[in-house]
Amino acid sequence: MTTPTKAQQLYEGKAKTVFATSNDDNVIIYYKDDATAGNGAKHSVIDEKGILNNDITTIIFQKLHEHKIKTHFIEKLNEREQLCEKVEIIPLEVIIRNTIAGSMAKRLGITEGTDAKTTIIEICYKNDDFGDPLINEYHAVALDLCSFEDYEFIKKTTFEINKILVNMFDELGIKLIDFKIEFGRNSKGEILLADEITPDTCRLWDKETNKKLDKDQFRLNIGSLTDAYKEVLNRFKK
Ligand code: TMP
Repeated sequence: MTTPTKAQQLYEGKAKTVFATSNDDNVIIYYKDDATAGNGAKHSVIDEKGILNNDITTIIFQKLHEHKIKTHFIEKLNEREQLCEKVEIIPLEVIIRNTIAGSMAKRLGITEGTDAKTTIIEICYKNDDFGDPLINEYHAVALDLCSFEDYEFIKKTTFEINKILVNMFDELGIKLIDFKIEFGRNSKGEILLADEITPDTCRLWDKETNKKLDKDQFRLNIGSLTDAYKEVLNRFKK
């Protein structure tokens, strides 16, 4: 198959830009260096972030394919771009928490790093105007974001993905604290894992030292985001 050629820009997000291609069923996703936090309240351009995230998400999506998880990812094209199946994103941010941190720690007054008695799944309505509010599956169905059947599929797949990722990061000496994923529908109506899985969308702590190897470096202003992301990538390459 020849690689489709890049066409007009379809969408520019906070960290990525999506382009149409000569094949209606494919898009090219370009990884930018922009970092944002607090729904865009904090913004910086961080040298190389896009290159590192394109590399990391490529490795992770390939690993998920080995475990038969269906994703939008087709191939990495160059430093910053990947070819993906075109999907319509289901406007849900699906979050897994293995250890309590971030917004859940704050909202419920729990010390960061407390182990959860059970793995937690949350969904947020992906809508910047309302700050991506936490909802449940009844809200999602009532708002016509997905059906109950779709939600059950998303939930089951998300727990499967969590199992794969926890083991994968464990082998790298990293604890997967939490992460956010998104799903989309392709032209055949199949639900695929979409978007990205990177240190932008996961909390990753070193197993021995609890050092944060993720975007909290930027959110909390505690160090070099690039160094943390390079560390994650280097562990994959060892
Ligand atoms: P939270 O603790 O801020 O709710 O974040 C939970 C996980 O989801 C964390 O790994 C970061 C990720 N996340 C995103 O990727 N995008 C977002 O917009 C938010 C709010 C969280």
